Amino acid sequence: MKNTLNVGMIGYGFMARAHSNAYRKVNNFFDLEYRPVLKAVCARDAAKVKTFAETWGYESVETDWRKLVERKDLDVIDVCTPNNLHREIALAAAAAGKMILCEKPLAMNSQEGAEMVTAIEKAGVANMVWYNYRRVPAVTLAQRLVEEGRLGRIFHYRAVFLQDWTISADLPQGGTALWRLDVAAAGSGVTGDLLAHCIDTAIWINGGIARVTAMTETFVKERKHNLTGKVEPVGIDDACAFLARFKNGSLATFESTRYARGHKALYTFEINGEKASIQWDLHDLHRLSYFDHRDDGRLRGWRSIHVTDGEHPYMSKWWVPGLQIGYEHSFVHQVADFFEGLTRNRPASPTFRDAQETQKVCDAVLQSGRTGQWVEVE
Ligand SMILES: NC(=O)c1ccc[n+]([C@@H]2O[C@H](COP(=O)([O-])OP(=O)(O)OC[C@H]3O[C@@H](n4cnc5c(N)ncnc54)[C@H](O)[C@@H]3O)[C@@H](O)[C@H]2O)c1
Repeated sequence: MKNTLNVGMIGYGFMARAHSNAYRKVNNFFDLEYRPVLKAVCARDAAKVKTFAETWGYESVETDWRKLVERKDLDVIDVCTPNNLHREIALAAAAAGKMILCEKPLAMNSQEGAEMVTAIEKAGVANMVWYNYRRVPAVTLAQRLVEEGRLGRIFHYRAVFLQDWTISADLPQGGTALWRLDVAAAGSGVTGDLLAHCIDTAIWINGGIARVTAMTETFVKERKHNLTGKVEPVGIDDACAFLARFKNGSLATFESTRYARGHKALYTFEINGEKASIQWDLHDLHRLSYFDHRDDGRLRGWRSIHVTDGEHPYMSKWWVPGLQIGYEHSFVHQVADFFEGLTRNRPASPTFRDAQETQKVCDAVLQSGRTGQWVEVE
């Protein structure tokens, strides 16, 4: 008999779908003490939220997130709203004693993040932030190889996240689907949206980032705002490139833009160590490229590891060796790890506190983008 955890989902967009899918699948593949029950979903449009509930099997609906958070029959609040609501919802959910799974970035900035960390730690509730790329098996394998010391001393970390969907100057900002262009809803542009993922992975694999210097640009300075109907200044960074120094002395470059024509979601990273190097590419997410200088010189070269074997992270839970899984499975893994953490009383990362480290780096990057100076990460 499994312990049930009643989930209250806020939002019915992209991430609400990804998470709902994960809750529905997790117990089919992972042997866990806990089982999520899709108890309620909340969003402002009553008709649309009802349709979402029917599609995904939620038992009830709400149109006011405050009511959802106060419901006595819910154990977990899952925050899948735009970034400007994360803080308020998390604080209310913590005060109501709920576990909180919050989408990334944790907050609009690190002041908000600090407030959220204090609130959830004071409330003593289980918490996690959905930096799901950690749980792509090839990325998890990369982290383990570095942790085992196979790469030796790390010299370089290089990450890129490229898209091309905001190039048109006619694209409006704000409101449904376009809140990412509205600084009041998103907090920042590519830094909080895309680089936050790269930073989270980097910190997890290679430790803390000490200082950064950044270059940011807003290519389209004004866009019509969907909520006001007026042409308004654009406050987000369309593109950002930054240099970083890790606390372990290694050097890094990070780049992200929504103006790289031809790229939809090209997230790649490369790590160069004294003994070996690693490369990963989201478009080939089930593969990890590995080069080991210790190999016999005649055979030395980049290996492309098909991360589908039973020995690979998470893969024994899925099909048979050689059959790959995809993007959506990273969310299933995240739910599984969260439940496993509850069983073992060892919180699954990234917790709010872990995600606050990424938030601090994002703040430092944006500050450096404004001043052109190196900024120490607090
Ligand atoms: N982990 C990832 O890879 C990943 C990917 C995409 C988005 N995200 C994050 O997930 C969050 C949501 O992004 P998305 O792409 O799902 O956005 P989305 O626009 O698809 O969905 C946002 C949802 O929030 C709802 N919403 C907005 N205001 C609300 C309110 N006041 N009350 C209740 N519901 C409200 C909207 O109705 C919508 O259903 C963001 O924080 C984003 O950064 C993470």
